[in-house]
Amino acid sequence: GDPRLQGISEAIRVVPHFPKPGIMFQDITTLLLDHKAFKDTVDIFVDRYRDMDISVVAGVEARGFMFGPAIALAIGAKFVPLRKPRKLPGKVISEAYELEYGTDCLEMHVGAVERGERAIVIDDLVATGGTLSAAIRLLERSEAEVVECACVIGLREVKGQCRLNGKPLYILVEPRQIENCC
Ligand code: PRP
Ligand code: MG
Repeated sequence: GDPRLQGISEAIRVVPHFPKPGIMFQDITTLLLDHKAFKDTVDIFVDRYRDMDISVVAGVEARGFMFGPAIALAIGAKFVPLRKPRKLPGKVISEAYELEYGTDCLEMHVGAVERGERAIVIDDLVATGGTLSAAIRLLERSEAEVVECACVIGLREVKGQCRLNGKPLYILVEPRQIENCC
């Protein structure tokens, strides 16, 4: 495997029982503080997508915004923010997705992408895949082609399956489960 992945994994802080008991929170803010690990993360995505004729990098609010723009600039693509509800001022399309309790929603500006554009979707982490599924639907309703979804962190089962709504899913590392745990 890629020798950079271990450094990336180790730069992600695991916070047990946040935001609630039983959750092993994967904190990418410590990755952002580590210049080498952060640059390696962006470089791996850039190397993968630079020659794939991608013109759209869509990033999911909030943590997808921390990786997407750097990738977009490096590969010569536009960055399209997929935002939580009622944040975008223009005309939007919306897609709901399931949460543990209730639903949430992502929105995209109408006109941000053109028919036939080739897009990737970037987020920090995939768990159930609900968020990325909503992102895919937004882009497909806009007649963009979702080439792949990419996350820094993904659960083992998801990484094994490597597809989402029929789309390829690219993941760098698996979540670490134990750290200084009680
Ligand atoms: C987290 C994470 C992903 C999503 C993954 O975001 O950053 O976007 O959950 O979960 P899923 O695969 O089960 O949909 P969250 O909605 O907590 O908000 P944030 O990025 O704004 O912090
Ligand atoms: Mg998120």
